[in-house]
Amino acid sequence: MAPKHFLEVSQFDTATLTGILDSAQAMKDARDGQPKGVADADLPLQGKVLAMIFEKPSTRTRVSFDVGMRQLGGQTLVLSSHDTQLGRGESIADTARVLSRFVDGIMIRTDQDDKLVEMAKYADVPVINGLTDDSHPCQIMADMQTLREKKGDLAKLKIAWLGDFNNVTTSFIHAAGRFGFKLDIAFPPEVTPVAEAVKWAKDNNADIRLGHDAKAAVENADCIVTDTWISMGDDENQNLHNQFQPFQVNAAMMANARDDAIFMHCLPAHRNEEVTDEVMDGPQSVVFDEAENRLHAQKAILKFCMG
Ligand code: CP
Ligand code: NVA
Repeated sequence: MAPKHFLEVSQFDTATLTGILDSAQAMKDARDGQPKGVADADLPLQGKVLAMIFEKPSTRTRVSFDVGMRQLGGQTLVLSSHDTQLGRGESIADTARVLSRFVDGIMIRTDQDDKLVEMAKYADVPVINGLTDDSHPCQIMADMQTLREKKGDLAKLKIAWLGDFNNVTTSFIHAAGRFGFKLDIAFPPEVTPVAEAVKWAKDNNADIRLGHDAKAAVENADCIVTDTWISMGDDENQNLHNQFQPFQVNAAMMANARDDAIFMHCLPAHRNEEVTDEVMDGPQSVVFDEAENRLHAQKAILKFCMG
C-alpha cells in the first residue's frame, strides 16, 4: 500500500482536511487545557519512530512534532543535513530508501520543494512537509484549527494577509480553496506573487484577491495575518524594508478591520517590523494559541499518516 504522505493542503479534499481538524480538536479537548507533558490516554503510535530532518532552523515545528509523537506513544529522532551523509551529497532518494528501513515516518524541513517530492517518491513510509521555500501546510492546519476555535465556520470568514507573498501565503491560498473563506492578500509592488499559487487559486475557485493596498485588504476582515518580510533563505527581499513598511500590522491597521478581528502570525515574529509589540501583545492577538495548535494539528496529521 502506498504510504499516506502529508505534502500540501492542496493534495486533500475538504472532507479529509476537516476530518484532520476534527481529530486535532478532539485530542486537544481530551487533554483538558493541558497541552504539555504526559502521554494521551490512547497511544495510537506506540512503538513507532518519526525521523525529523531539518535543513533550516526551527523551534515550533521541532518541539511540537517531538512532543506530539511522545504524547501519541511514539518516539522521534532529529537529523540535520550537516551531521548526516545528506550534507556530503548522498541523494535524497537513497536517504529515503535507507530511512524507510529504520523509521515509520519522515518529517522534512528543506529549501527546495523538489527534495520533499523526491523524498516522498522514494520513501516507503509517510513523509510530512515541515516547511519548504514553497509551502508550510502543517502551519496552515494549525491556523485553520485556531480560526475555527476563535471564529467558527471557516467558509464565512474574510482573512487579510499583509506583507510578503511567501511559503505560508501559498498554503493559506490552498486552505482558502479548500475551506471557502475569502482571502485578501496585500503586498508591495516589488514583490512578485507566486504564479503557481495564483493559478491554483483560479483553477480551484479559491476566493482570493491580490493587491497593494493594505487598508483596503483589511476592511471588514475577521482576521489579519502576517509573516516575516524576509523568510529563511530569502535573498530577494533583503532591501525592501521601506517598501514593506505600509504593510506593517500596527494598532491603526487593526482598527481598519472588524472590531472583533483577531491577529495571527506563524512566528517567529520580527517585532516592530511586520507587527508592532502593541498588536502582538494586545487583546486581539492569538499567536500563542496558534503556536500551541501546532501540537494538536500535527498530532492529527501524524495519526492520519502513521496511525
Ligand atoms: N512557525 C514555524 O514553523 O516555526 P519554527 O520555524 O520555529 O518551526
Ligand atoms: N515564511 C517563514 C516561515 C517561518 C516559519 C520562513 O520561511 O522563514
